[in-house]
Amino acid sequence: MKIPAEIKIVALVVGTCLFYSYVGHLVPQKEVLPPTEVIISADVTTDEMIAIGEEIAQGKGLCLTCHTLGESGSLRFPDLSGIGSLCTTRIPGKSGLEYLAQSLYEPDSYIVPGFNPGMPAIVRPPIGLTDDEILCVIAWLQSLGDEATVTLETRHSFNSDGVEAD
Ligand code: HEC
Repeated sequence: MKIPAEIKIVALVVGTCLFYSYVGHLVPQKEVLPPTEVIISADVTTDEMIAIGEEIAQGKGLCLTCHTLGESGSLRFPDLSGIGSLCTTRIPGKSGLEYLAQSLYEPDSYIVPGFNPGMPAIVRPPIGLTDDEILCVIAWLQSLGDEATVTLETRHSFNSDGVEAD
């Protein structure tokens, strides 16, 4: 029996399609990853918090889109190198920890001399950092010019369950 040419063509087309879709499934698909979520485990050390804080500052916190590290001259935004020790003397009577927390939770309640207001409230969307993420950012800020002392247990007056630290 002779197979009509049309059937041969259809069989070839179908066969080719099946073959390519089979090969296509063998090739690993490009993985599309969601934006990196910073995972902070409960037993994180202060050194690890510094590293996480730095990652947040470069990434989702957007800090380094405005702030510089180690630049001087006429800057639009305060340079953050040395903030770890500077924070203890900015507002007389306020501890360094409280100053850093305030500058992150309520940036407009104290304006660094020589600068204009304009720092976004990073606890609110779109940046929306959590209390733990902000503690990591504080650890990183403390490490710029001094030794970081915060842990995830540290409380300050801006923590949602906080009491003022001395
Ligand atoms: C849109 C720009 C912008 C972004 C983003 C930003 N800041 Fe600021 N920041 C400012 C400005 C402007 C000031 C100075 C005005 C003031 O005191 O509020 C400031 C002040 C500060 C101060 C006080 C500095 C000092 O010398 O006392 C700290 C600390 C600080 N920012 C940390 C951060 C961190 C950490 C982030 C990221 C989580 C961040 N900022 C994101 C603009 C920004």
